[in-house]
Amino acid sequence: MRAWEAAGRTAASLVRDGDRVGLGTGRAAAAGIRALAERVREGLRCTGVPTSPASARLARELGIPLRRMRGPLDIAFDGADIVTPGGLAVKGAGGAMVRERIVGDAAGRFLVLIDDPKVGDTLDPWGILPLAVVPFAADHVSAALAHLSPSRRPARSDDGLALIDVRPPEGCDWEALDREIRSIGGVVDTGLFHLVPGDVLVGAPDGTVRSVDRPGGAG
Ligand code: A5P
Repeated sequence: MRAWEAAGRTAASLVRDGDRVGLGTGRAAAAGIRALAERVREGLRCTGVPTSPASARLARELGIPLRRMRGPLDIAFDGADIVTPGGLAVKGAGGAMVRERIVGDAAGRFLVLIDDPKVGDTLDPWGILPLAVVPFAADHVSAALAHLSPSRRPARSDDGLALIDVRPPEGCDWEALDREIRSIGGVVDTGLFHLVPGDVLVGAPDGTVRSVDRPGGAG
């Protein structure tokens, strides 16, 4: 069993009857969607708010009823690219971080599903911070952040935003840098997230799951 499938199963087990569920984007989120669909087939009633067309397609195919993003959600689950034991995280390799933040903020509980290689003492091993930027401002933002080696992705986000990856220097204060970047006109969002460490589920290939603030192996 892949590690994030174990985490996906745990996330799906925390969904209660009648819940409105935010559905993230990526491999780990897809594992959660598959596990949730199993529970729906067994009789669980819930509705999902997908954060991307890919997640919408998967959920629909597997029989999870979908709803629009409106009002609070009970729970949401999603993946991440790296998470520290304190809950600082980078998301957005799939470019869906704006919708992922909207859904995560609206949810009473935001579960993030990862495996052990995605736990880092700092965010430096990942080394990339994705930005979602109004297309009109993309060149302007890239020029302002030239010292961070910006690279613009060829595709836009599902909301039509330009996606720019920057490379924070090793040892830098990612939160301070994030505040600086957000103050540039045209930056809509970044991939830096503050998560509740107890809600970051680290799956292991043997099927066990721990939270990111629990040191050591899975169990
Ligand atoms: C999508 O924009 C991302 O935030 C993903 O949730 C993140 O990149 C993790 O994806 P995987 O679960 O596919 O590694």
